[in-house]
Amino acid sequence: MSLSEDFRQSMPRDQLWPFLIEKQPPAVDASKNILLYVEGLSVSFDGFKALNDLNLYINDGELRCLIGANGAGKTTLMDVITGKTRADSGQVWFGQTLDLFDRDEAEIAALGIGRKFQKPSVFEAQTVFTNLELAMKVNKSIFYGLLSRLGSAELDRIAHVLETIGLQGQESMLAGALSHGQKQWLEIGMLLIADPRLMLVDEPVAGMTPQETERTAELLTSLAGERTVVVVEHDMEFVRSIARTVTVLHQGAVLAEGSMQEVQNNPEVIEVYLGEGH
Ligand SMILES: Nc1ncnc2c1ncn2[C@@H]1O[C@H](COP(=O)(O)OP(=O)(O)O)[C@@H](O)[C@H]1O
Ligand SMILES: [Mg+2]
Repeated sequence: MSLSEDFRQSMPRDQLWPFLIEKQPPAVDASKNILLYVEGLSVSFDGFKALNDLNLYINDGELRCLIGANGAGKTTLMDVITGKTRADSGQVWFGQTLDLFDRDEAEIAALGIGRKFQKPSVFEAQTVFTNLELAMKVNKSIFYGLLSRLGSAELDRIAHVLETIGLQGQESMLAGALSHGQKQWLEIGMLLIADPRLMLVDEPVAGMTPQETERTAELLTSLAGERTVVVVEHDMEFVRSIARTVTVLHQGAVLAEGSMQEVQNNPEVIEVYLGEGH
């Protein structure tokens, strides 16, 4: 079996098809300095409101942390932003002009919104380099790309990403031989290949060693600015180490927002989330 066939068959359909778009997507207009507008968002599952009139505004270039107890709606919010779940009501805009509700999952990915799920899904039987190469090729064009060789600009891009994720020198290793933390970084690298404007990262440090957690904090901090990063995380030490602004979700709505210190001292937050037992 050829590598490209192997790749197509091993990649779940719902992860493959966002890459099939070939036409140039419209550019995002972040001129008001807000990259993502979420307004009045509600989603129900069998009458249960997973999101309940939620409002959220993410500035261009910021690193935002989303926290909240299990079931608060964090993953559902990411599902709606990325077009995986349809909302019952509300609006989601990418910059001033792009209504994400007009678009499907593939179109939203092509606009420059990358998402990292909680579980790493690298191709373990392939090398680190090949994982990045495949991410590059599917991002460009599956039909043309998988058959052709990479040009020097593309090789430079891979080298740059390897350095960013701290895996330079390890490109010939099989991804399956990486540590759990390195696999997570490789997957972040596979997202970075597409140069997303907005990255949504769900629980990146779950299962990591303290050193890996620290390195991930540095990595995500270094990515913000040039791009916008929204991180869902339970590890409060980690959140404390990276966050400028923390948004606390509770029962599908925003309970509090501010610096880690403001949020930690908010009585409502203490009561429902940060209180005893956390
Ligand atoms: N596809 C679904 N069908 C039914 N209920 C769901 C679905 N997705 C999420 N929920 C429910 O919505 C609530 C919010 O879930 P989720 O967004 O995963 O929370 P979090 O990521 O903050 O832990 C939970 O009560 C969950 O059980
Ligand atoms: Mg979740």
